Parts: sequence; structure tokens; C-alpha cells
Amino acid sequence: MARAAPRRRQRPLTGAARATGKLRVHGPAASADGFREDVIAGLSLPQKALSPKYFYDAEGSRLFERICRLREYYPTRSELALMRRHLADIARFAGRGVQLIEYGSGASTKTRQLLRALRPAAYVPVDISAAALQSATRRIAREFPWLDVHGVVGDFMQPLRVPALRARSRQRRVVYFPGSTIGNLTHEEAHAFLRMTRSQVGAHGAMLVGVDLKKDANRLHAAYNDAQGVTAAFNLNLLARINRELGGDFDLRRFAHYAFYNASLGRIEMHLVSLAAQRVAIDRHRFRFDVGESVHTENSYKYAVPEFEALARAAGFRAARVWQDGRRDFALFGLTPA
Ligand code: SAH
Ligand code: AVI
Repeated sequence: MARAAPRRRQRPLTGAARATGKLRVHGPAASADGFREDVIAGLSLPQKALSPKYFYDAEGSRLFERICRLREYYPTRSELALMRRHLADIARFAGRGVQLIEYGSGASTKTRQLLRALRPAAYVPVDISAAALQSATRRIAREFPWLDVHGVVGDFMQPLRVPALRARSRQRRVVYFPGSTIGNLTHEEAHAFLRMTRSQVGAHGAMLVGVDLKKDANRLHAAYNDAQGVTAAFNLNLLARINRELGGDFDLRRFAHYAFYNASLGRIEMHLVSLAAQRVAIDRHRFRFDVGESVHTENSYKYAVPEFEALARAAGFRAARVWQDGRRDFALFGLTPA
């Protein structure tokens, strides 16, 4: 996911914390966001590439929520259905009164069922989109007044540092990573991420990971090429965001959304294809595009159950449970330390 991004340490977020009742929102850490540097570096590569984490400004988060409601986009409905179907068992696996850390929490929609069933001691949603995190945490705090909510605006590839949670280090930790956001990471990134969470949950914690499964390529293709063009708008919004925030001069009419299933790599690839030979400026930087040249904006890996079990095992987890929806489109893995 962070293809061209140099690793950067996230600063402690204490100074930036804002509190209302039992809700605290931490971050974003000043200058933790390397958007400009990553865009310049990504557009300078032989295969131009941008990290999908930059899709999610306020508009990108809104468009993603629209994608979740599309007829063609089955993952959200499948994961919600499997959670409804297996909620009691999932709750038994995770345990009550835990510290629930959710990465890429977005609108925290799926989490509501879990919060009701688990009654965790604290909920720590982490998301790179300040807009999504703020509106979701406000709603959660209103809906669950008994719950301590520590929202964190930040990159989940960086170590999580929430000073208030240090005092709770004896509480059992459960990491929740729904939505198949792990599919947007390369296998190497997914491995590094799982190793990090493995050390975070310690010997007694657990992890719940939502994973989109391999299936008929036509259904995958339809899910990323919806008839209303919402996924295209989501993809193109990345260029609009560069124009808004970095003063770029991308002409969105001269780029087209392109998504296909790369069967040999087991992933959907999203690209933005230049419809003309053109030059684009961002400040003093100039980028040349040939006609047909693309910017690679996202991978969305699809896994077979044994493939994901092997990935988890390599990171020190055991797939103790695998829950699936009726159609076996999507899986939720219950991981415990191996
Ligand atoms: N969990 C929700 C949202 C999934 S969309 C669901 O299942 O519907 C992916 C979410 O991850 C978005 O909210 C996006 O802002 C967030 N995200 C993507 N990359 C991120 C990163 N590197 N660090 C933190 N959040 C990230
Ligand atoms: C967040 N992530 C799992 C979505 C996916 O399906 O890879 C993002 C997305 N991209 C296009 N449509 C949805």
C-alpha cells in the first residue's frame, strides 16, 4: 500500500488530543502526513503509482460509503451478513471487557454489532481519514455512552501510541481489521502489519480480520466497475485531491478509471489511464504522460482460506476460527497467538 512511501515515525499524539465526555480524538500528528512527498515520488516512478491510503480525504470517505451500498459491491453486505449469522460465536471468541482496537475503522458501521455483543472496556478506532474518524466517533460516543472511545487519526502501518492506553496495558487486547482492507496491502506489507499486531495483542489477545475471498472473475470485475460510476469517481477523486491540496493541474476529463482482475497475482488492480499525451504540473514539478500510460492506484488482493491461514501463521498467529457468509464470498478470521 505504501509503495513509494518512506517509513516515518508517528509522533506521540498527546498534545493533539481533544476530549468530549468519554470520547477522545488523537491526532493527526503534525507533519505525519507525507502526501506531497509521496505524490511527487510516486509520479516519478517508471510505473507511476500512488498509495491507496490517499483516497480517503473527506470526499473519498463519502464515496467509499456509497460504494458499500452499491448492488455490485458484495463485500460489505457479505461481511455484515456473516457477522449477524455468527455474532454470538465471534463474541465468545473475542471475549467481554477487552480493549478493542480497530484499524481502518471508517464509518465504524460493522463495529456496532461487536460493541453491543462485547461491551469492551475501551474502543480505539484508527483511521487516516480525519473526517471519517471524527464523524464516526461522535456517533459511537452518542450511541454507546458507557464506552471509552479513543479515536486516533493516523496511519495503521505506523506503531500505535496512545498514552492513555498505556495505563490499561493489563487489559486483554483484541485487534479488529474488517472490510478486507488487508487486501489493499502487498503480501509483504500484510506480513509486516500482522507481525506488528501480533506483538500488540501479546500472548493473551486476539485478532479478527475480514478477508475477501477468491471467486468468479466476472463478479470481481463488476464490483470494481459499477454501472453508476461511483468507483470511477472514487478513483478519480485522488487526482482531484492532488489539485485541491497540492495545487496540481490534473484535468480529470483526460483520465479514465480502469480496474481489472489480475488472476496470476490474485488481485484487482485499479489504475487511472491517461487519455492523451499530456503534461501535469504540481508546483514546480512536471510529469509527462503518454497516451494510454497509467497511474497504479490500488491493489485489492483476494485470498483463498488456506492462503490467508499461511500468511497469518508466518506472522505468528494461528487461525483458530474462520467464519463465512452463506455464499462463501467473504471470511472473518479469528486469530490467536501461535
Ligand atoms: N472498516 C470499514 C472501512 C473500510 S475502507 C469497512 O469495513 O467498511 C478502508 C478504511 O481504511 C478507510 O476508512 C480508510 O480511511 C482507512 N485507511 C486506509 N489506509 C489506511 C492507513 N494506511 N492507515 C489508517 N487508515 C487507513
Ligand atoms: C477498502 N478496500 C478494502 C476496498 C476494496 O475493495 O479494495 C476499497 C475499494 N476500492 C474500490 N472499491 C472499493
